[in-house]
Amino acid sequence: MQIQVHDTAFEAADRVAKILLDHIRSHPRPTLGLPTGGTPLPVYAQLLSDFRAGRSSWRHVRSFNLDEYVGLGSDHPESYARYMHTNLFAHVDCPANQWRVPDGLAHDPEAEADAYESAIDEAGGIDIVFMGIGHNGHIGFNEPGAPHDSRCCCVVLEPETIQANSRFFSSAKNVPTKAITMGIGTILTSRKLVLLATGEGKAAAVSSAIEGPISQMVPASALQRHADVTIVLDRHAASLLG
Ligand code: GLP
Repeated sequence: MQIQVHDTAFEAADRVAKILLDHIRSHPRPTLGLPTGGTPLPVYAQLLSDFRAGRSSWRHVRSFNLDEYVGLGSDHPESYARYMHTNLFAHVDCPANQWRVPDGLAHDPEAEADAYESAIDEAGGIDIVFMGIGHNGHIGFNEPGAPHDSRCCCVVLEPETIQANSRFFSSAKNVPTKAITMGIGTILTSRKLVLLATGEGKAAAVSSAIEGPISQMVPASALQRHADVTIVLDRHAASLLG
């Protein structure tokens, strides 16, 4: 596991953007796993500025998002499909059929999760999964207790996660209670993992994930099982590391 600590959140995001851009530039068919949330926004801003400067193209990129709320379609302002469209894909040259988010409006979310897993397999797996981390150590929407070999599935969100994500909704009661997520096992089968965490609020989760025992109660601790992991932090998120 490689741990990089940067002075500011901007520098940490810039580092992650560079890792993704190096891959996009050097691979003929790059396949990425991408996250949502507040943390990745400066990374997406960097990716866009690089694209706008003509230094990168998304024409051959394929991407699979980590997760989506059950019940929200791409026309909902807080759906992750909308987030990805607004913050990245509306502005780059990636064909619409090459970036995918689980369908939150699928009639059968479990079947959608299975189809999503199959689509990842058919794409030949994911080269780099870029992810954030929840305050309770969740990755994607894999909450504490999720098995480390889980595949794409439909999950129930923890009250803590609903509360944390309610800042994007008019109130906590409008946050969906279920989601479709890549499983921890799905994430671990990817060739490279990059986790970005910034801010003091993530320090405890980061420390348990990196320095604590591998435990189902800390989903991100599963990353310790992977041979190619880069953890990119600002000094606040790194403040509890020994
Ligand atoms: C959500 C997402 C996660 C993300 C987490 C942290 O729950 N499902 O993928 O890592 O939020 O988000 P933020 O970066 O806003 O703290």
